[in-house]
Amino acid sequence: MGSKGNRRVSVAATHRVSPFTASLPHPVREHSARRGWIGSGARPRRRDVLIPSVQVTAQPSLCLQSPVTRRAGLCAPLAGCELRVATRPEWVAAVRADLPAFLRDHAACERKAAAFVTHLIAHYPDVPWLVRPMIAVAREELQHFADVHKVMTARGIIPGPDEKDVYVRALTARPFTPGYSGLGQRLLVAGVIEARGAERFGLLAQGLAGEGLGAFYTKLTLSEQGHAARFIRLASRVLEPAEVHAELDALLDFEAGVVAELPLRARLH
Ligand SMILES: [Fe+2]
Ligand SMILES: [Fe+2]
Repeated sequence: MGSKGNRRVSVAATHRVSPFTASLPHPVREHSARRGWIGSGARPRRRDVLIPSVQVTAQPSLCLQSPVTRRAGLCAPLAGCELRVATRPEWVAAVRADLPAFLRDHAACERKAAAFVTHLIAHYPDVPWLVRPMIAVAREELQHFADVHKVMTARGIIPGPDEKDVYVRALTARPFTPGYSGLGQRLLVAGVIEARGAERFGLLAQGLAGEGLGAFYTKLTLSEQGHAARFIRLASRVLEPAEVHAELDALLDFEAGVVAELPLRARLH
């Protein structure tokens, strides 16, 4: 474990009790109410909420700080999420060897990402601090899908059927805790998946520059970094900082193991 600390940011709390949240017999709900996330019908007001600035690994060579991404200017640290194993350079070669297959898979991943955040909105419709940013992320993911689709169309690449994503399945296979703790866990998993996407797009920003896709993947890298930070920041609204540390610590170790087992192929994961 590395260093850790907290910083305070001010956010608006505009949350009222609803039948949905009131029916959740979960300690996190009580905890949320204490913090003002789920209010008693009071007028919206601004509160200070602790957001952890987590460094959960002391390893100096992290994905987003690899030489390739550093040269590309894409090494901005993510809020609380530094991956523990770097994607092998051979992965970029595999993508270049079958760019149509990669783009088909990439398009599917963007569409599934949009579906995931829409799914979150459907499950937690009465949580404004979740719904509003998830709408924004859903729009961005759908735009990413449209952008990849446009790249494919320009190259005469026809979309194909979905393939199962063993990486995402592995990370989401765990049973999540019911209620708001489970929401926090899901958000952290989403943050780590986004961080891996950002890391790999960062590699492609340079690796596919020769194919005219450098700027395209640079833009996507920055966008996915923003998503990762947003998911992790939101998780800290339903989990205590210590819980975020513990969850991320275990999750990043697990994710590193999953990535190490992934075959080298022209797929995002
Ligand atoms: Fe995306
Ligand atoms: Fe994303």
